[in-house]
Amino acid sequence: MEEATATKEQQQLQAPQTAGLWGVKEYVDPTAEVVWASERPVYEWKDDYTDETAPDNAELERELFDEENRINAGIHFDKYKSISVSVKGGPENRRIMNDFTELALHPTILENIVKMKFKEPTPIQQNATPLLFAGYDVLACAQTGSGKTAAFLMPILSKLLSKLSKTASQNQPGARRTKASPLALIILPTRELGIQMFDSARSFAYKSWLRPVVIYGGTEMKSQKEQLAKGCDILIATPGRLIDAIERGLVSLAKVKYAVLDEADRILDMGFEPAIRQIMTASDMPKDEGLQTALFSATFPSRVQVLARDFLKDDYIRIRIGRIGGTTSDIMQKVVKVEDYQKEETLINLLLSQPPSRTMIFVDSKRRADNLDDILYNKNFPCISLHGDRSQREREAAMDAFKTGRSPILITTSVASRGLDIKDVLHVINYDLCNEIDEYVHRIGRTARAGNPGLATTFYTDNNATIAPRLVKLLVECQQVVPEFLKEFVDEATSYEDADFVEEDEDSGFEASGSCATNRYTKSHWGGAGDQVQDTSYDGNWGTPIKAPAAPAGNDWGTPKGPVSSSSCDLSTARPAQVPATGGNWGAPAAKTQTNQDTWTAAANW
Ligand SMILES: Nc1ncnc2c1ncn2[C@@H]1O[C@H](COP(=O)(O)OP(=O)(O)OP(=O)(O)O)[C@@H](O)[C@H]1O
Ligand SMILES: [Mg+2]
Repeated sequence: MEEATATKEQQQLQAPQTAGLWGVKEYVDPTAEVVWASERPVYEWKDDYTDETAPDNAELERELFDEENRINAGIHFDKYKSISVSVKGGPENRRIMNDFTELALHPTILENIVKMKFKEPTPIQQNATPLLFAGYDVLACAQTGSGKTAAFLMPILSKLLSKLSKTASQNQPGARRTKASPLALIILPTRELGIQMFDSARSFAYKSWLRPVVIYGGTEMKSQKEQLAKGCDILIATPGRLIDAIERGLVSLAKVKYAVLDEADRILDMGFEPAIRQIMTASDMPKDEGLQTALFSATFPSRVQVLARDFLKDDYIRIRIGRIGGTTSDIMQKVVKVEDYQKEETLINLLLSQPPSRTMIFVDSKRRADNLDDILYNKNFPCISLHGDRSQREREAAMDAFKTGRSPILITTSVASRGLDIKDVLHVINYDLCNEIDEYVHRIGRTARAGNPGLATTFYTDNNATIAPRLVKLLVECQQVVPEFLKEFVDEATSYEDADFVEEDEDSGFEASGSCATNRYTKSHWGGAGDQVQDTSYDGNWGTPIKAPAAPAGNDWGTPKGPVSSSSCDLSTARPAQVPATGGNWGAPAAKTQTNQDTWTAAANW
C-alpha cells in the first residue's frame, strides 16, 4: 500500500530497488534549475577571425561532436543504396552528390561533416542537397532517420557562408538594439524538435560566423530575447513563439533567404496552418524570387501535398526516396494482441524480458502517460514521462534524463513521435496504438536511425481495427511477420495508392484516394493540437501515483519468451562511462547492441 502511494521523492529516499536488469532508478527533479536549451553555447565568432584563423573551442567541440552525443552510421547504412529515388521537375541533367566533396560545399561545412563522421551521403542528401544548392524550391519525402536534417542544413549554411560575409548578419557589435533579422528560418512543430535542430545547426555552423538561435514556447521570452539580441543568422522556431516574437518587434523576417518547414506535413496540418500562412505570407518575409523554400518530412498525405503548393515556387521539385509514408526495413516490427486490461502486465513482462536499452513508450493521452509513469516508477523501472501539459522545465528535464540514460524509459504521447533523433533508442513500444498509419511510421521511426537496427512492439486490441489494413500493408512491405490475428487484412495489402506524389493537376486527390482520412490529427489524436503553439504551464507536481492494478489472472497472448539472460548481452564489458556509481545496468546493452546485432536480434525474439 505504502509503495503504491509513495511519491517519487519519497521513493528516492527508500533503499535502492531495481526492476530486474534495469538497474537503480533515479529521481529526476523536474524543478531543478537547468540552463534552458536555448542558452546552450554557440561558436562565438570575432571580427578579426577568418575561415582559416578561427580558433577551435575544445569544450564546445566535445559537446557537439563527441561519439556519446551522436548516432553513428549503422550496419545497414549501405541498404540506403537500394532504395528507389524519384525526382519530379527540375533540370534534366541535375547533379547527384555521391560524395560530400563533389558540390563545392563551404570548407567549414565540410570540416564539420568530417567531425560528425559522415562518410557518404544518404539518398536524400545525394538528391536534395544539390537541388537546394542550385537554388530550387524542394518538397522532399524520405524515411525516418535517413538524414533529412543535413540534406537541407548543408546547402543552406554553405550558401550563406559562401555568398555573404558576416556584415550581412547581425552578429556584430552595435546590433543589439535592432531587431533580429535572420538569413535562414527553420520552423518545426514541437519545442523538442526546435531544440534538436538548434543542436544540429550549432554543429554545422561550428567555427563559422553563422549564429543560430532557437525560440520556442513555454519559457519566458526574456532569455530568448537576449539570445536574439546577440545576433541571429539562423532562426529556429516553433510557429506560436515565432509569431509572438514578430508581434513584439523582436524579429524581422525581411532578410530571410531560405525557409525550411521540417515535418512539413504536420506544420501544414490543420492546427498549424493559419500560423504558417501568417508567417509565410503576411509577414515581411520576402516572397517569390527573394526566397528559397524547402519542405521535408517522412510522410506527405495528398491533402498536404496540394496545400504545400501555396508556399512553393511554380518550378519546385518533388523528391521521393522510397514510398511516401514508407518506413525502414531496419525496424523489426512486432504486433501482439492484448486486451486492454492486459496491457500493463504485458508491458512489464516485455520490459523485464529484454535487455535494458533506451525505450520509448507511446500512449494516447497525457493522463495515460502520467498514470503509466507512476505505475512503472512504483515498480522500480527507471522511467520518466513527457507530454504537452508539462512545464517547459519538466520537458527539458525529461529529455535530458532520457538522453543521458538516467531514465532510459520515456513514456510519452504523440508530442514526441516526430523527428527526435536520440542515440541508442532500441525499442519503441506502442502501448496505445494510434489510428493513423503516418503517426505509426513516425513513432516507430524513433528507432533504427542512420542504418542501425531497432525494434518496435505494438499492443493491438480489437479497438484498433481502423488502422489494421494499412498496418498490415506496412508489415508486408517491410517483410515483417504478419501475426495470425491480422491475416484477415492481408488481401487488402496488395497495393499502395499513396506510393507517389499526387499529380500536379490534381487539387483534391486526398479525398478521392482515401489514403488520407479527412480528420487526420484531430485535436485529441495529437494530444492537444495547440500544445506546441502556445505556452503551456503545468500546475503542480508529477501527479499522484496510482496503485497498480492487480495483474490479470489470464493472458491469452502468452508469456514472452524470456527473460533474456544477462550473459547473452554481457553487461559487464559494455557499460558506458555515464553509468551511475550505484551500478545501474541501463546503458550497457545499448552500447553493446549497437555493435552486436546478433545479441539484439536474439533479445528481440522474446
Ligand atoms: N551521411 C550520413 N552519414 C552518417 N550519419 C548520418 C548521415 N546523415 C545523417 N546522419 C545521422 O542520421 C541520423 C538521422 O538523421 P536525421 O535526424 O536528419 O533524420 P530524418 O531523416 O530527419 O528523420 P525523421 O524523419 O525522424 O526526422 C542523425 O543522427 C544524423 O546525424
Ligand atoms: Mg528530421
